[in-house]
Amino acid sequence: MDGLVDLRTGTVSREVFVSEEVFRQEQERIFGRAWLFIGHEDMVKEPDDYFVSRMGTESVVLTRDRQGKINVLLNSCMHRGMKVCRADQGNARVFTCPYHGWSYSTDGRLVDRPGELVGVPGFSSHYRSELDKKSWGLVHCPRVVNYRGTIWASWDENAPDFEEYIGDFAYYLGAALDHRDGREGGSEMIGGVQKWRVKCNWKFAAENFIGDLYHDISHRSVDLVGIGPSGGKGRRDRQRGRTTVGFPDLGHGGLAELPHRAEPDYVATYRNHPEVEEYYRQVHEARVRNLGDRLRVTTGTGTIFPNMSFHGRQPRTIAVFHPISPTEMEMWRIFLVDRDAPQAVKDVARHYYLRYSGPGGMTESDDMENWVYATEASTGVVARRYPYNYQMGMGHSQPIPELRGGYDGGEYSEQNARIFYGRWAQFMEGRDWNALMAPARAAV
Ligand code: FES
Ligand code: FE
Repeated sequence: MDGLVDLRTGTVSREVFVSEEVFRQEQERIFGRAWLFIGHEDMVKEPDDYFVSRMGTESVVLTRDRQGKINVLLNSCMHRGMKVCRADQGNARVFTCPYHGWSYSTDGRLVDRPGELVGVPGFSSHYRSELDKKSWGLVHCPRVVNYRGTIWASWDENAPDFEEYIGDFAYYLGAALDHRDGREGGSEMIGGVQKWRVKCNWKFAAENFIGDLYHDISHRSVDLVGIGPSGGKGRRDRQRGRTTVGFPDLGHGGLAELPHRAEPDYVATYRNHPEVEEYYRQVHEARVRNLGDRLRVTTGTGTIFPNMSFHGRQPRTIAVFHPISPTEMEMWRIFLVDRDAPQAVKDVARHYYLRYSGPGGMTESDDMENWVYATEASTGVVARRYPYNYQMGMGHSQPIPELRGGYDGGEYSEQNARIFYGRWAQFMEGRDWNALMAPARAAV
């Protein structure tokens, strides 16, 4: 893997995007260890609710068990590996394996009820009661955390706590997950999860969301049509003084509007919807009051290494890029809104999301076309000899004193993409967590 990412020259080999071997090692060294986005707590509100998610190429089930505890379980039977949960989500007392019928409760235990339909069929007759059921429950993901309503998990017992993993980038992630008035949490999901497959490498999406303002040319038609939140304004009307903010020691980054200054003024956005406009004006004023000294300008998009991205201001969304193969990903979109917002606010947000995002959304289709063609064009034997150029803004980043480890790259810069691939290379080298976290810890 040596030399695939060269931060000195600002280049990244195309092998990173198309090689089977790189993909295999990513599963082990990145998706087998890093904190990964699993879902939202709204997906498992009640006991025995479940939602099937992914960690890399593996299927996992997010559950709320009878005790109310949230679990992330490997979706593979311990007998011969069959997927025990084949629905996308729902509520079930047990997951019964379709192959030979082993049944598991939502806390992952192999059900122990001899003589009943659930449990291990033939436990007393075929197994002569000799199977140690306690040892054969579903595999539990050892590290699971509920962060402001979102569920994250890591397969690595030794991973740092999630808060340390995201560091001061928490401020920007909070802009997506918190109530618009600045209170922690307080967001709910609108509708379900949009899921679709894209024939591209997953990293194209992650690096796009981490701070690629340069690709606005792709969305020119959308700008001309004008699909801002109110439905009547172009996207560019809302954009002013943006910059790239990245954390080289952690691999996260995003777009912000002058991140180290406060945003005291409300910017009218929903002129066609007076009730909605009034709501956002009020929550903005509450935000200024609630955050006080902590008030900073809200963010655009951002990426938490490796494969979760978000829109950090209204409208707020989560995007996840699940690797399927070197040249295919499964993309998810989850839409968020203030839980206690009036229905009119939720309706306008829902319509905006449908116009803007997802497989049929206007901007997402522009982006997907770029990623698909870039991936396909990079598979050729000749194309693969030539690396990609990530040189924009090299040597021009400035530390942001208020944010530990944070750097401001300026408005048009590939700083954050370099940060992303730098972190990617560190994980791919197989560094242990002490080495992975040492620079961030030294900066505290
Ligand atoms: Fe699940 Fe056999 S594979 S019971
Ligand atoms: Fe885009």
